[in-house]
Amino acid sequence: MQENELKYYEEIKDWNFEMFEIETEKLTNWSLYEILNDVTKKNFRILDLGTGGGEKLLKYYPDCLEILGTDFSSEMIKTANKNLVLSNRCNISFREMDNLKMDVPKEYFDVVVARNTVTDPKQIYEVLKPGGYLLIHGVDRYDCWSLKMLFGRGQAYDDKKPISIVDYENVINAGFKDVELVPIHEREYFKNKYLFKEFLKKVPIIDEFSELENDHKDYYAPDLDDQLLDEYISENTYDGKIRLLRRYYGISARK
Ligand SMILES: C[S@@+](CC[C@H](N)C(=O)[O-])C[C@H]1O[C@@H](n2cnc3c(N)ncnc32)[C@H](O)[C@@H]1O
Repeated sequence: MQENELKYYEEIKDWNFEMFEIETEKLTNWSLYEILNDVTKKNFRILDLGTGGGEKLLKYYPDCLEILGTDFSSEMIKTANKNLVLSNRCNISFREMDNLKMDVPKEYFDVVVARNTVTDPKQIYEVLKPGGYLLIHGVDRYDCWSLKMLFGRGQAYDDKKPISIVDYENVINAGFKDVELVPIHEREYFKNKYLFKEFLKKVPIIDEFSELENDHKDYYAPDLDDQLLDEYISENTYDGKIRLLRRYYGISARK
């Protein structure tokens, strides 16, 4: 599965969604960026796991002593370095690293951030200073649920336990304290079917990475069944915009 996932991210090369012109309505007010900006002091070191093309890091992370963004995709890191050059930011670097085989110094970082990526809380615990913060944002099981039900498949569709609970338990079991799990609900609106469809082709919502052993099928967004898509659109259009219900979760914790 990891191989397919890596291949998918290598082909995507960035995690930029501006071209889809999405309007977001927030129904809950937990914000990873707000917490990060609140807790960060000038002398802090931040590690951003699964940074993608560094888009969010460069836009929302506060200035401090050091920010390191890592990703297992070399293509994402290339994009991140290009984005870094275009930004006016300093004290920031990007490099390749697998979140599940972290090779950064122990007790070095004040904050570790993992936004919409895989984590191993035990490894994160080791690289945080005592008192350091862990901030996770993830996509939960019921994300885009009515769309997934219509298609009969999708990310986490067959999960027995929601990923938010798995993460929450893993963070507690790794030894963290002050662990809080918060459900995050948002509504996203798309201007038309073209933008909606292009978005669904880019993100692994309806189509997942293959988890079957010996299955060498790559991740791909096959022809999204237009009839099903039209059905979803006719049932989920409000003021001329197509609505998608997003279900995320946030976790904050301290070492
Ligand atoms: C959904 S994107 C999120 C990017 C960014 N954090 C954001 O919020 O915009 C997930 C990123 O995690 C990376 N990723 C997935 N599995 C990983 C792993 N095991 N180690 C490191 N990076 C990984 C992917 O390459 C991709 O760039």
